[in-house]
Amino acid sequence: MKGLILAGGAGTGLRPLTHTGPKQLIPIANKPNILYCLEDVRDAGITEIGVILGENMPEKVRELLGDGSSFGVSITYIVQGAPKGIAHAVGCAREFMGSDPFVVYLGDNLLKGGIREMAEEFSKGDAEAQVALCRVPKPQRFGVAELDEDGNIISLVEKPKEPKSDLALVGIYFFRESVFPIIDELKPSWRNELEITEAIDNIRKAGNLVRAHVVSGWWKDTGRPEDILEANQLILQDLETSIDGDIEEGARTSGNVRIEKGSRILSGSVIKGPVVIGKNCEIGPDTYVGPYTSIGDSTKIVGGEIEDTIVVGDCIIDCGKRIVHSLIGKHSKILSSEDEKPAGHRLIIGENSSVMI
Ligand code: DAU
Repeated sequence: MKGLILAGGAGTGLRPLTHTGPKQLIPIANKPNILYCLEDVRDAGITEIGVILGENMPEKVRELLGDGSSFGVSITYIVQGAPKGIAHAVGCAREFMGSDPFVVYLGDNLLKGGIREMAEEFSKGDAEAQVALCRVPKPQRFGVAELDEDGNIISLVEKPKEPKSDLALVGIYFFRESVFPIIDELKPSWRNELEITEAIDNIRKAGNLVRAHVVSGWWKDTGRPEDILEANQLILQDLETSIDGDIEEGARTSGNVRIEKGSRILSGSVIKGPVVIGKNCEIGPDTYVGPYTSIGDSTKIVGGEIEDTIVVGDCIIDCGKRIVHSLIGKHSKILSSEDEKPAGHRLIIGENSSVMI
């Protein structure tokens, strides 16, 4: 079996975070989302992996993954360019897949428990395609499956206004080469994309078996800022303590905390886990870092409190305030204007930023 990881798409919904790279590279607990996908595919025993590249800084994906050897896989890059749909992206991989069965993993999805079991099921079985489903509170945001009493799929619809069930299509799909002629027949949808949900439904309508696998653990599509923070919480729940940085006298940590090499926690600071702090950071003095916070490399936080937040990295936060539920992009500065005249909030923020004061 081969793998296909999608790193294309527009990423407009996550600006300004996607001004420095594709959305699949946004770090969740200090690790780019796409690496969780790559590890899931590799841990299912799949080492030949195609990676779909889009138009938004594809070089950053190449820079991170290289030829795959440092992750124990072999990567072939496939340029899709403009985001014409997931099915279009899959169609671009036709030559790479040849006659092998394959798994498609959307690079902005995160799944607890990986895909090994599903991959085994598909390899052993006679299904023409296999989808993963997860119960969600708002199915209209996703592709939605309707099952009969025996668990067979009756319908698959992309973002229905009136969903027939609460079973969302997880962005992990298994196919055989029979999917390619079906993709050839697709017409662009209302959102002007070739829809993978429609392709799978057409495989089913042609009389083939499409197997459904309902996942038991959590699943997250990190398409919106609030989903990214939630994914960060879910990953940090399982964090194990490891301290490679320095904790000065008078500073303390509690709960599960990871502090990487070259980082320093200065006196009077409190780090209450789960918290991950990357390399070469400086926290303190007298600074509080609360649960579910991920701080990327080379960040300096002086004073104040921060909690349930992702700081992507190379940031300076020196404002003495309490920051919560926030996503702070690379190279950002949050400083105090209290001693400046005229008094007031001074903002230099980019396109699509959002600030709550
Ligand atoms: O996350 C699961 C959902 O993903 C499914 O429930 C839906 O059925 C499926 O259509 C998809 O919906 P989204 O609206 O979330 O898809 P999105 O446009 O966000 O793209 C998903 C991933 O695929 C994302 O990592 C970007 C990548 N992509 C997307 C398009 C449209 C590409 O690489 N190329 C593309 O042309």
